[in-house]
Amino acid sequence: MKTRTHTCGELRKTNIGDTVSLNGWISKTRDLGALTFIDLRDRYGKTQIVFNKDISLAAFESAKSLGLEDVIGITGKVVPRPEDAINSNILTGDIDVEVYDIIVYNESDTPPFDINDRQSASEDHRLKFRYLELRTRELQDNMILRHRASIATRNFLSSRDFIEVETPILMKSTPEGARDFLVPSRIHKGSFYALPQSPQTYKQLLMVSGLDKYFQIVKCFRDEDFRADRQPEFTQIDIEMSFAKQQDIIDLGTGLTSYLWKEILDIDLPKEFPIYSYNETMERFGSDKPDTRFGMELQEFSEFVKVSDFNAFKTILESNGIVKAIVCPNANNYSRKIIDELTEYLKKYFGAKGLAWMKCNDGKLDGGISKFFDQDNQNNIISSLDVKDNEIIFIIGDKSKIVFHSLGALRLELAKRESLIDQSKWAPLWVVDFPLVDWNEDNNRWDALHHPFTAPNPEDIDMLGTSPGEVRSLGYDIVMNGYELGGGSIRIHDKNMQQDIFKLLGVSDEKAEEKFGFLMNAFKYGAPPHGGMAFGFDRIVMLMVNSNQIRDVIAFPKTTSAMSLMDKSPSKVDSDQLNELGLRIIDGDDS
Ligand code: AMO
Repeated sequence: MKTRTHTCGELRKTNIGDTVSLNGWISKTRDLGALTFIDLRDRYGKTQIVFNKDISLAAFESAKSLGLEDVIGITGKVVPRPEDAINSNILTGDIDVEVYDIIVYNESDTPPFDINDRQSASEDHRLKFRYLELRTRELQDNMILRHRASIATRNFLSSRDFIEVETPILMKSTPEGARDFLVPSRIHKGSFYALPQSPQTYKQLLMVSGLDKYFQIVKCFRDEDFRADRQPEFTQIDIEMSFAKQQDIIDLGTGLTSYLWKEILDIDLPKEFPIYSYNETMERFGSDKPDTRFGMELQEFSEFVKVSDFNAFKTILESNGIVKAIVCPNANNYSRKIIDELTEYLKKYFGAKGLAWMKCNDGKLDGGISKFFDQDNQNNIISSLDVKDNEIIFIIGDKSKIVFHSLGALRLELAKRESLIDQSKWAPLWVVDFPLVDWNEDNNRWDALHHPFTAPNPEDIDMLGTSPGEVRSLGYDIVMNGYELGGGSIRIHDKNMQQDIFKLLGVSDEKAEEKFGFLMNAFKYGAPPHGGMAFGFDRIVMLMVNSNQIRDVIAFPKTTSAMSLMDKSPSKVDSDQLNELGLRIIDGDDS
């Protein structure tokens, strides 16, 4: 093998005249008869190498049989390119290497897709050959940026006295909202480990241990429905601190985010990120992860309904529902067919029962439900909502949850259609004052909105027994450009309070003891007040590389149906393996 003197991204004009050795993959070949040009590629870049009959006939001959993605090593001399062949788009574009010696390390079969053009194959095909897709410039850049972000994270946190502690991957199942991935125990047949949905309980125990400031860049596993920004295994920057108040964690999270954006992208984020209460962000944006890079905020509409003839909305108001509206430009883009499509989308995914609308033409409201609003009322709507000609008002009335979720989703959809989002903007923010619990109508019980270890706001504790739905938690989320980047809370550190919360959540004493006895026990021995948060590391990197697909920043991701197309997992196992674990597949269809 040749010892390389340089990488394929390194040679410049100053190297002209040097004898160099390069190793790499063949990215492109051009046969010009007496000369063969090859782009040689490695992680660092591409260098054009030239095979000239008159320099080395042997090398020239062997270059004739080379194909794309063969791996070779060459030795040659750095020469200037002719003036008209200089390529100022690449850093090595001033020079060529004239080859006089070549070793072919490995010939490649015809690649299943063009490595120079990632979009030349379907995603499934690329995922099957992910190791080849990872040769593309785009994915290599993503992996490099990801590495830099993880180093920067470690530097930031360790310079602030946080220490990285590894916690178990085989652990006890702890409920965090999603389904667990389970691992059967061979030694203890019938018992299972769970893969951590997050190291939540361990990091709290580390606070009891007095480690004071913990972090970990850690894999987490959740068996949930997958979307563009979710994977079954993903990575968190997990953080916990003792003797910390909510503001301390917010300051730390703001500091880490600003540091990463500066170090990796050279972007200055604002010194402080805006803080919204949960209620405010729901009221204004219909979302607890609002994209504030554009306006189109939700507007109150009930006062106009009250003096209208539109009875459907009036009935909703009488039964404690709400009516809200958003105003969208370019009404002429919204034909009946498009409005029907939007309505179907909101019905299917957000439970909306309909989508009302009116268009503004020549200072008057027109179409949709406008006939139920008299002239005075219309004038009021136009001036209060600041509606301009050729704008369309979309209105939804329902239970508040449905109105917020539907209009929040519609706001995003319309912003995309109307290109209202300034893609060069960064809009970080915090959301605080989440409700502690959320009523689960299907199961008739209160669920923790964050997780059961989140502390209630001390100002609201009196309401725990009477109106738990109104109790705010000491939980917070950090949001960037409409993505939930991270979340956390100040924890309950008192055993009795933890028991009260379990009771509220309908977790029986026996169940609490069985699931969390170890944590509650630990709290008996001097648990410090503590809190923390976790960032979705993949999501941070995804935003930094300007993608909306989390798979772009994970070396070997799963598909949305949780499959690895490359190694075909999950896969069946031998009956011997099942027997050893004391397991039997009962459903038949385990494919
Ligand atoms: P949470 O469940 O909010 O909090 O997760 C923290 C962050 O992790 C990211 N995330 C995901 N990223 C990719 N794929 C997924 N399936 C996925 N699920 C979550 C999100 C999210 O904001 N233990 C608590 C944190 C704490 O309280 O300290 C926790 O895990 O960016």
